[in-house]
Amino acid sequence: MWIYEKKLQYPVRVSKCDPHMAKLLLEQYGGADGELAAALRYLNQRYSIPDKVVGLLTDIGTEEFAHLEMIATMAYKLTKDATPAMMKAAGLGDHYVAHDNGLFYQNAAGVPWTAAYIQSKGDPIADLYEDIAAEEKARATYQWLIDMTDDVDLQDALKFLREREVVHSQRFREAVEILKHECAAQKVF
Ligand SMILES: [Fe+2]
Repeated sequence: MWIYEKKLQYPVRVSKCDPHMAKLLLEQYGGADGELAAALRYLNQRYSIPDKVVGLLTDIGTEEFAHLEMIATMAYKLTKDATPAMMKAAGLGDHYVAHDNGLFYQNAAGVPWTAAYIQSKGDPIADLYEDIAAEEKARATYQWLIDMTDDVDLQDALKFLREREVVHSQRFREAVEILKHECAAQKVF
C-alpha cells in the first residue's frame, strides 16, 4: 500500500519553454534506463529477493516513481507554452499529432516503453547487479542531460536526480555485500 504525498520530492523549475529539451528528457521517462523502468524493475523483483533486502527494493522502487513525477513535470513545463511549429522544429511533430503536449511513455527517439527493458532473474545477486548497472546508466544519462541544457533551474533538479542515482547504486552495492556475507555464512555459494 502506498500513501501519496501531494508534492514533488524536489522542486522542479524551468526558466524557458524548450520542447527540444523535453524530447531529450523523455529518455529518463520511458527509456531503457529511465525512471519508469527503474520503478517497475525494483518493485517486481521484491518477491524473490531475501527478506533482508526487500525493504531496500521497496524504498528505492517507490522513490523512482517520485523521480518519474519530476521528469513528467519538467517535460510538461518545457512544452506547455510551445506552439505546434515549435514542437515540429524540436522533433516532436510526431508526438504532437498523437498526444498534443500530453506525455507518453517513450524514449527520446520516440520508441515506446517495453517490459523488455527490465529483468527479473529470480537470483538475488544477478538481480542486484542488474540494479547497480541500471543506476549507473541512469546517473550517466542525467549527466549527459545536464550537459545538453544551459537552463540552470532545470540543471538544479537534474543534479538532484543524478545524486539520487549515486545513492541508489551505493545502497544496492551494500545489499550485494549483505547477501554475499549471509550466503557465505550458510555456505550457499
Ligand atoms: Fe535510482
